[in-house]
Amino acid sequence: MSVPNTAKLKEQFDAGLETRADFTIDQPTHRYGAVDHAVWKQLYTRQTALLKGRVCDAFLEGVERLNLSPERVPSFEAINEQLMPATGWQIVAVPGLVPDQVFFEHLANRRFPVTWWMRRPDQLDYLQEPDCFHDLYGHVPLLINPVFADYMHAYGRAALAANDANALPLLARLYWYTVEFGLIRDEASPNGVKIYGAGIVSSKGETLYSLQSDAPNRIGFDLERVMQTQYRIDTFQKTYFMIDDFSQLFDVARTDFAPLLARLTHAAPFPAGVVLSTDTVITRGTGEGWETDGDI
Ligand SMILES: [Fe+2]
Repeated sequence: MSVPNTAKLKEQFDAGLETRADFTIDQPTHRYGAVDHAVWKQLYTRQTALLKGRVCDAFLEGVERLNLSPERVPSFEAINEQLMPATGWQIVAVPGLVPDQVFFEHLANRRFPVTWWMRRPDQLDYLQEPDCFHDLYGHVPLLINPVFADYMHAYGRAALAANDANALPLLARLYWYTVEFGLIRDEASPNGVKIYGAGIVSSKGETLYSLQSDAPNRIGFDLERVMQTQYRIDTFQKTYFMIDDFSQLFDVARTDFAPLLARLTHAAPFPAGVVLSTDTVITRGTGEGWETDGDI
């Protein structure tokens, strides 16, 4: 969640788009061209077909209730008309990644920052920073689910209250292994697992890898274990954590984080691919293709 100095940001400042103190802007809908809408359509169509039977039902319900357009980059305003009455959340347009404290402040007030710009056609499969497709298609459908919405809110409040730089890695790992790369139990799926994390949902490659590859570990979710586990930002994950249902996240949301963070802050983290004797192992990964360094 650090802030990169990207060409997109520069372009935005050059275009004179006014950024407020909380890093939000008005969604510049006039700046979307035919290419942006075509990329949205291509990604939306591809992921929606791929996700059938692979993503949790709550996500599909969210897509339907938000009335997301398959054809065009959606209007944030139109999405908020569905979202706000349902769970009190709204989305706000931002230039890209925002500083941690600003991000937490938004979440703690039920605002989810969504990058306004779309990736280029040559970036369909991978880009390093979140764009509108990742932020919107990946994250927002679950914000209309009341239990998930409360979890995100509680996460923002806990992160804001932590106010301790040493606690940030612990909180970042929790976000990473749930909101971005979480798996959820679902007996209707061939291997008993579906996906809900936005980093998976918005990626063709990781949708297939996280569910079907023999390489990664799939381990039952445990709050302390997750907070102590390093992750990957440049490759698919070595380990995914599976929740039983969203009520497990609700329990996490009610945790008193202060003593937990204080206790875990100085503990050495676990490498991303490690399996512990205390883990509930769903599948132990073969580790094929793993990089030996680069866990963060
Ligand atoms: Fe994300």
